[in-house]
Amino acid sequence: MDSPEKITPEWIRGAKARGEKIAALTAYDYPMARLLDEAGVPFLLVGDSVGMVVLGYPDTTQVTLAEIRHHVGAVARAKTRALVVGDLPYHTYETAEDAVANARILIEAGAEAVKLEGGVEVVPEIRALREAGIEVVSHIGMLPQHIKEEGKYKIKGRSESERERLMADALAVEEAGAFAIVMELIEPELARAISEKVGVPTIGIGSGPHCGGQIQVTPDMIGAFPWFRPKSATVRADIAPIIRNAAEGFVRQVREG
Ligand code: KIV
Repeated sequence: MDSPEKITPEWIRGAKARGEKIAALTAYDYPMARLLDEAGVPFLLVGDSVGMVVLGYPDTTQVTLAEIRHHVGAVARAKTRALVVGDLPYHTYETAEDAVANARILIEAGAEAVKLEGGVEVVPEIRALREAGIEVVSHIGMLPQHIKEEGKYKIKGRSESERERLMADALAVEEAGAFAIVMELIEPELARAISEKVGVPTIGIGSGPHCGGQIQVTPDMIGAFPWFRPKSATVRADIAPIIRNAAEGFVRQVREG
C-alpha cells in the first residue's frame, strides 16, 4: 500500500483508483488530532459537528466561521500526517466570492482543504474555490446545515426523483473539482451506485458499506457524547463512564482528605 509522509488531496483523490478505502474522523483539538494521527487516520475533518458535540448547540446551523477557524488552528498545530479539512459553516458560502474569502480564512488557519454541503446548487462555489487554488471536499445526501427545513435526520435516496438528483449531485461536484465526496445518510444501494460511478472516493456516514471510505464523528465513536448517539455512529469505545469515575474518585479524595 502506498503510504506517503504527508497525506495530500491528490493522494485521497487517487484512493479509488488504487483500491484503497479512506478512514476519516473528525477532530476539533490538538490532542485528539495527534492521537488520531498517531493511529494512522489519513483524513481529519474539523467538522461543524463541533457545534453539537463540543459547543452545546442543538444542531450545526449556529456554528460560526470564527469557531471553525479556532478549532482548525488547534488541529493544525498538531502538524499531522493526516490531511486537515475545515468545514465551511452554514451561510458562509452563499456566493462564490463568500466561499473563496471564507475558505481562505480557514486555509490561513491551517486547513489544507475545505468541505461544503450541497450538490448541483454549489457547483459555482466549488469552481470558484478550485480556481482560487483551494481544494474541496463536497458533502451530499442529508445536509445537517438544512436540518431546520428537513425537520429530522433522514435517509436520502428512497424515491426515484431523489435517486436521480443525488446521482446528478455527485457527478456535478466531481466535475466541478471536488477531490472527495462525503455522503451522509444515503440509501446504501444508491451509495454503492454513486461510489461505482464517480472517479473520486466517496466517504460515507450512515450510507452503507460500499462507499470508498467511511467517516465518523469521533465523540460519537468513542462515547464522549453519551446523551445522544446517532444511528450512523459506530461506537468503538465508551469513555463517558471512565471520565465520570475519574471525577467521582477525585471528588471523594478531596472530600475525605
Ligand atoms: O461536521 C461533520 O462532522 C460532518 C460529518 C458528519 C461528515 O460533516
